[in-house]
Amino acid sequence: MIIAVDGPAASGKGTVARGLARHYGLPHLDTGLLYRAVAHNVRRLDLDPAVEADAVAACDFDDRLLDDLSLRDDETGKLASIVSAHPLVRAALFQRQRRFARQPGGAVLDGRDIGTVIAPDADAKLFVKAAAPVRARRRHAELAGRGADVPYEQVLDDIRARDARDTARDAAPLTQAADAAALDTSTLTAAAAVARAIQLVDERVRVRAGGQGPIP
Ligand code: CDP
Repeated sequence: MIIAVDGPAASGKGTVARGLARHYGLPHLDTGLLYRAVAHNVRRLDLDPAVEADAVAACDFDDRLLDDLSLRDDETGKLASIVSAHPLVRAALFQRQRRFARQPGGAVLDGRDIGTVIAPDADAKLFVKAAAPVRARRRHAELAGRGADVPYEQVLDDIRARDARDTARDAAPLTQAADAAALDTSTLTAAAAVARAIQLVDERVRVRAGGQGPIP
């Protein structure tokens, strides 16, 4: 079974994807980490993230880099959303993601274009969202927990700027796939969001198998 989970920054898609992977016993790939790895290399090699050829030159990395905790900082996220707008960067990372999705037994992938580009044939697709101020509060708390002292207003501005970049780009923009179920986590705890996601996936799978279930 392939499960595609997409959504904007701090919407809870990572929590939902990890919860689904645990529940169904599937391997999970956080595809944002791949773009973050490219961003990390761009900085390390002193390249220009806005120049496509520079960003492409940073696409060659070992999977071990994905475990590097520094990939998760805010600056790397911002840089990732710049390098990810280049079509050739997306092309360079495409096969890696598709291979992961199509491994025997299936997988859960989360990102921005899983249901639309990487796994359009997924068995279940979720689009996880939450109001921007809620997402900013979550990200702010996460950063504070890691000792980063960033004002809330700045986190909110960053989230809005990232949303704008991710949805406005020409290459695989962030958008809800026509056949994806929306999951708004604004008022849900992490556990409630995962429980609802499991319900939605079970419904999707039942509908695809020709059984009874709510209309998508
Ligand atoms: O968790 P958060 O949304 O902060 O970041 P992420 O999922 O790690 O993604 C970082 C950036 O990578 C996003 O802002 C997107 O621009 C880009 N990305 C993408 O373009 N396509 C994906 N499948 C995943 C991430």
